[in-house]
Amino acid sequence: MRELNVGGVPRGEDYFGREDLIENLWARLKRDNVLLVAPRRFGKTGAMYRLLDEPREPFHPLYINVEHIMSAADFMIEFLAALLRDHHFSRVINKLREETKGFGRFLRSLPESIDVGGIKVILREDTDVSQQWISYGERVMAMLAKDKPHLLLLIDEFAIMIDNIAQHSVEEAERFLRWFRAVRTAPETKARFVFGGSINLIATLDAMGLVDTVNDLSIVRLEPFDTKTAKRFVETIFASRRVKLAPKIRDTILELVGAPIPYLLSVLLTAIFDRQRATRKKVSVEMVNAAFQDDLLGGATAAVFRHYRS
Ligand SMILES: Nc1ncnc2c1ncn2[C@@H]1O[C@H](COP(=O)(O)OP(=O)(O)O)[C@@H](O)[C@H]1O
Ligand SMILES: [Mg+2]
Repeated sequence: MRELNVGGVPRGEDYFGREDLIENLWARLKRDNVLLVAPRRFGKTGAMYRLLDEPREPFHPLYINVEHIMSAADFMIEFLAALLRDHHFSRVINKLREETKGFGRFLRSLPESIDVGGIKVILREDTDVSQQWISYGERVMAMLAKDKPHLLLLIDEFAIMIDNIAQHSVEEAERFLRWFRAVRTAPETKARFVFGGSINLIATLDAMGLVDTVNDLSIVRLEPFDTKTAKRFVETIFASRRVKLAPKIRDTILELVGAPIPYLLSVLLTAIFDRQRATRKKVSVEMVNAAFQDDLLGGATAAVFRHYRS
């Protein structure tokens, strides 16, 4: 059954529509790396998970959220840990071991049952990745360049990370951005990258005079649902709950929400079903209006909602 996912990541059949977006992303990834831009809650993370959950040849995707990362070194640790945890790419890391003494020791001492958090702690404390992140980055990328299936790295909240790094050192942010641009545009590389983020990366970089470090990226803008998709979404959700939906009610919902941002639609629909369950009455235009007034305009989402409306 299709479930409303409010605030989490909608996956599988709970991820609705967006077929054109997903096709567009795969098409661009044949040649380019992508910067996926949209305001918060438009569905960027959901789209990245779609690429992750339904991968296409010749790619093998990995997803990392880098919102909490404060330094280039920690990015490298996050990246290496993600590779190590992956059944396919851990092979690549094993090759790195053969070349690097300190790193080899690290890998041999890794307990079988260790989780990603543990891997990161050991990488940070028992290896020289933090000091030598550029060198590790270059070697790993060189190995990944020709590896098959090709790496598709999905990096969520990239702009927040860049902002974090720049807060303590603009120089480090620049070094990191230049390193990244160089490795992803290297002529032999087959790896691809999707950069997602809710804060405006271009504006952030512009303020630092560093826009040229991302001028190779192909920009994909995420829009709200179109009217047809929004209609289908409301109808599908009602149908999956076996609740009857009169066209008048459907249109009232769409009118109230305005620009059909999937998150706001999900919040309103949830509020309607909560009311319906509580009152044990049929869904009516009045009920929809009341849910909108009390739960959206009066509730926790009020600020978010007014923000999108304006
Ligand atoms: N395609 C979709 N199908 C169903 N719900 C969606 C879809 N896209 C977004 N949502 C809703 O919007 C919320 C925010 O989506 P998310 O991908 O986290 O946005 P972003 O990463 O842009 O902030 C989700 O929790 C879900 O309620
Ligand atoms: Mg997100």
